[in-house]
Amino acid sequence: MTLKGKVALVTGSSQGIGQGIVLRLAEAGADVVINYRSHPEGAEETLAKVQAAGGSCYTALCPHSMGYTIPADLGSVAEVQQLIADSIGHFGKLDILVNNAGIEKHSPFWEVAEADYDAVMNVNLKGVFFATQAFVRHLIETKRPGKIINISSVHEELPFPNFTAYCASKGGMKMLTRNLAVELGPLGITINNVAPGAIETPINTKLLNDPEKLGALLKNIPLGRLGQPQDVASLVAFLASEEAGYITGSTFFVDGGLLWNYQEQ
Ligand code: BGC
Repeated sequence: MTLKGKVALVTGSSQGIGQGIVLRLAEAGADVVINYRSHPEGAEETLAKVQAAGGSCYTALCPHSMGYTIPADLGSVAEVQQLIADSIGHFGKLDILVNNAGIEKHSPFWEVAEADYDAVMNVNLKGVFFATQAFVRHLIETKRPGKIINISSVHEELPFPNFTAYCASKGGMKMLTRNLAVELGPLGITINNVAPGAIETPINTKLLNDPEKLGALLKNIPLGRLGQPQDVASLVAFLASEEAGYITGSTFFVDGGLLWNYQEQ
């Protein structure tokens, strides 16, 4: 499987799953745009890893993958549109969009502040909507096919008490993907969701530092461990490749069996 000659943008790739996806896509030969909001040092770390894996050659004829970092807050439509434009400006085109950036806020439903609701919905759903729109416009203008992969969550299906806005955003992402599979299929554009369960990343820092909660969660995972960013990234790379050309409108769970785990004691 190769992504040679392809250009990919991975939103939110200064850490966690996004960083893992960038490294995997670069390993498969793609040039990658690394996006960050508040962690330039994380974006530089991602870039350094791409460079370490791909060598130090940075000319237009370079056979190795190239990386480029761009700051943008996915919660702002203007910044999202600028991010897509700057990615195209730098590499000349975009072939793959990975809508990975996402945030969550813990709070009982009756205490959720409007600002927190907006922050979650703006990054997780509105940003995805308009990044995808700008990407699709570019593909239409250049008359080319493309691949969209959304990083959703088991919580596009599974309730997660105290995270209702997060669940609503991921449920919305599920329907966005189904709808766009139908609307964009005739243009040769595929769109799929990858839905991780509990992956060891900074979004989970609190949980990872709470032995009791972590123990309870691990009991719910049939494979008996947390996932790693690479577990998610390998599927994203496949969905971004030509080998996944007939796959669209689907969600693929990467969760160690968490979603469908039900047992009676
Ligand atoms: C959430 C994590 C959670 C995991 C499993 C993810 O979507 O971001 O906070 O631990 O789902 O419930």
